[in-house]
Amino acid sequence: NSQKLWGGRFTGEVDPLMQLYNASLPYDYKMYKVDLQGTKSYTSGLQKLGLLTEDELSEIHYGLGKIKEEWENNTFIRLPSDEDIHTANERRLGEIIGTGIAGKVHTGRSRNDQVATDMRIYCRDILTNNLLTYLKELISVICRRANEEMDILMPGYTHLQRAQPIRWSHWLSFYATYFTEDYKRLQEILARLNVSPLGAGALAGHPYGIDREFLAQDLGFSGVIGNSLVAVSDRDFVVEIMFWGSLFMNHISRFSEDLIIYSTAEFGFIKLSDAYSTGSSLMPQKKNADSLELLRGKSGRVFGDLAGFLMTLKGVPSTYDKDLQEDKEALFDSLVTVENSILIATGVVSTLTVDKAKMEQALTMDMLATDLADYLVRKGVPFRETHHISGECVALAEKLKLSGIDKLSIEQYKQIDARFEKDLFETFDFEKSVERRNATGGTAKSAILKQLENIQTQLQ
Ligand code: ARG
Repeated sequence: NSQKLWGGRFTGEVDPLMQLYNASLPYDYKMYKVDLQGTKSYTSGLQKLGLLTEDELSEIHYGLGKIKEEWENNTFIRLPSDEDIHTANERRLGEIIGTGIAGKVHTGRSRNDQVATDMRIYCRDILTNNLLTYLKELISVICRRANEEMDILMPGYTHLQRAQPIRWSHWLSFYATYFTEDYKRLQEILARLNVSPLGAGALAGHPYGIDREFLAQDLGFSGVIGNSLVAVSDRDFVVEIMFWGSLFMNHISRFSEDLIIYSTAEFGFIKLSDAYSTGSSLMPQKKNADSLELLRGKSGRVFGDLAGFLMTLKGVPSTYDKDLQEDKEALFDSLVTVENSILIATGVVSTLTVDKAKMEQALTMDMLATDLADYLVRKGVPFRETHHISGECVALAEKLKLSGIDKLSIEQYKQIDARFEKDLFETFDFEKSVERRNATGGTAKSAILKQLENIQTQLQ
């Protein structure tokens, strides 16, 4: 222990299991680059204060560059005594440039403001370069299909019962709209987390008056966290990202559930490409929608990451306690899971094939019963009454075992209500039914095109 960074006051050894239990390097090594980046800016700040000479600073920056190379080439040797990425990098810096200079790097800094800084930069990079970028691509792929396959009609469902005809593009636009909200929500989280904790010290602030605004600017933050206690202890951004991930996975899960149903032989609306399906080890004929089932299934682990860390956080007294180290495994697991899920979903949507005929065969005339009621509304009959009349028509067709309400004769219609006229049969047209729904947000072509345009504007 006396060899450890904090070993001065210790005489006894740490229990070997405690050593492992305490170590976060096995997962926080992922932050090696942002940790070096933070130290680079921090030491520049120290130099501005006169706590490092120009020569010392360039030695340090040289050493940090070397360490980065080692991590990138996979030659960085981790020692059992390395507790976390911060101590590992500092230990190695001492070996490269000598502890005389490396020993000055941590002046006024604590791992508490250091880890908080690393985490925020790490999240910012992943959100910007991966999540937002991939999500935009997913939305574009969905919108492209919606534009190209505008002429395909399908049953719209409520309670999973055939309800009214909609365009397949309307279903696509439904999820594109959800994912666009996810996109905007993530941008807001990104803006909120991009503030700097660096220079807050262990909790009480910086004893040499470091220029925290300079550190923030140098690291690409939009400002500093204005209370040093908050700076070291705040993990709300971790919670927000995992909540975001949970909500996104909730959307992805519903999306997958729809497609799983649509891909069954009973529906036959879509076929997954081989690239996103797998077979059965026993039944030769099987082609399973594993990609979609995993998207649906993995949503559970992301909810679990969120719930677990919230549980950890609720008992932590103000400022830094070691409990906070538990933020990483949960967050990193969520990030990787969500990132891969976006990529898989994008692959699924861009390669699946739609069976237009199957979708349209699934449209039945009773799905136009609302339109039939609307027909009488246009003749001045109150809707509550027309709803009842149309219901009687459905019941009569059923009783006579006709294939649909379009097969009743005009006489039979007139018997139910004298206000029916021959032009009622024009109601029985699925295309006309969807085109009538041209108010904002509806399933008419013009209304869907507006939705898609809106999405494009919001993504800019
Ligand atoms: N590995 C630690 C973490 O991830 C770094 C901060 C340690 N700070 C401390 N005072 N022990 O939270």
